[in-house]
Amino acid sequence: MFIENALRYDARVHVLDPDPHCPCAGIAQRFVQGSFADRDTVLDFIREADIVGIEIEHVSVEALEQARAMGKRVIPDPAVLRTIQDKGAQKLFYREHGIPTAPFTLVEDRAMLLASPPPLPAFLKSRTGGYDGRGVMPLRGPQDLQRAFDAPGVVEHQVDIALELAVLVVRDDAGNTLAYDPVEMVFDARYNLVDHLRAPARVEASTARGARQLAMRVAEAFAAPGLYAVELFLTKGGDLLVNETAPRAHNSGHHTIEACASSQFDQLLRLYLGLPLGDVGLRAHAAMVNLVGEGGRGEPVLKGLDDITHMPGAYVHLYGKRETRDGRKMGHVTLLAEDHRALDQGIAVTRVHGRVVPATNTTPTPTKT
Ligand SMILES: Nc1ncnc2c1ncn2[C@@H]1O[C@H](COP(=O)(O)OP(=O)(O)O)[C@@H](O)[C@H]1O
Ligand SMILES: [Mg+2]
Repeated sequence: MFIENALRYDARVHVLDPDPHCPCAGIAQRFVQGSFADRDTVLDFIREADIVGIEIEHVSVEALEQARAMGKRVIPDPAVLRTIQDKGAQKLFYREHGIPTAPFTLVEDRAMLLASPPPLPAFLKSRTGGYDGRGVMPLRGPQDLQRAFDAPGVVEHQVDIALELAVLVVRDDAGNTLAYDPVEMVFDARYNLVDHLRAPARVEASTARGARQLAMRVAEAFAAPGLYAVELFLTKGGDLLVNETAPRAHNSGHHTIEACASSQFDQLLRLYLGLPLGDVGLRAHAAMVNLVGEGGRGEPVLKGLDDITHMPGAYVHLYGKRETRDGRKMGHVTLLAEDHRALDQGIAVTRVHGRVVPATNTTPTPTKT
């Protein structure tokens, strides 16, 4: 999606990814297969580049620091990435900067969790390595404490969530900051990832304003140019809490490709190139429905393509991943409409008819990988 947009500016994009068959491999100007967590691999890869960015947090920060020392433009700031890579450090950062977030404590391991158990229900989150709900464990009762993972973690009070919101913020070198309209996210409880979202979120104007302001405060606290996807909880009491921030293009901003003049990928490109920030205004009501793999692993087939493409205002994105697995994001559908009611219909059609399944349903996804 980034490359699609970059082509409009005649920018050349090189990609490093561990998977030789990753979707970018066939469309990047140059593709290198390798681990982005390995310092030397990254340093070797970026030698030819002027500007360095990321699409996932789990990369070698050391390599990015080095890249900066070599005079390359690096976004996000490696220091910001270091904070965000560690959910514990991230929560401490919010606390230090007076940014409201769910109450938490840090634990070193399971023994420490058992020695001073938190009030339940709570959430246990791995400090490093998790995303899309992996590494996040609800602690509903005492029995869950015994099953907790044995690694450094953040223990958070369970928030009484009315709505999960996300606000995408872009901040340039001069500190100019723009925020997109808050989106409302609905999670898929099976996989703990976004099922669908809609924009603008159905909240009071004052809540929407508060969400944008809070997200901009987060970007200001990080004090570095970048694209920040700030996930928020709106509590049943009407408070806004920051859950976590991704310093990169994010699933909660995919609708901006069609719903805004300047998408999240476009803003990122503008940032990299030092161009003025783009227009973040919503041009319609928008929804984004993730197409998530189900029915095991294998070559992906999208069922219901006819039903989806039949709808006015529907845009299909298939990522071109070679293998579908249960819970793997395989694509998404963006819907533009005049109002939320029309979006409801489009979301329902996409969820009922749009299914990504393996071509030959033989091998079920193993429960442990
Ligand atoms: N303190 C909390 N209270 C209630 N729900 C939570 C809490 N923390 C996380 N969750 C739920 O779990 C989801 C995933 O947690 P998150 O910290 O965002 O991890 P990930 O890195 O996997 O996105 C959240 O979007 C939310 O639905
Ligand atoms: Mg999250």
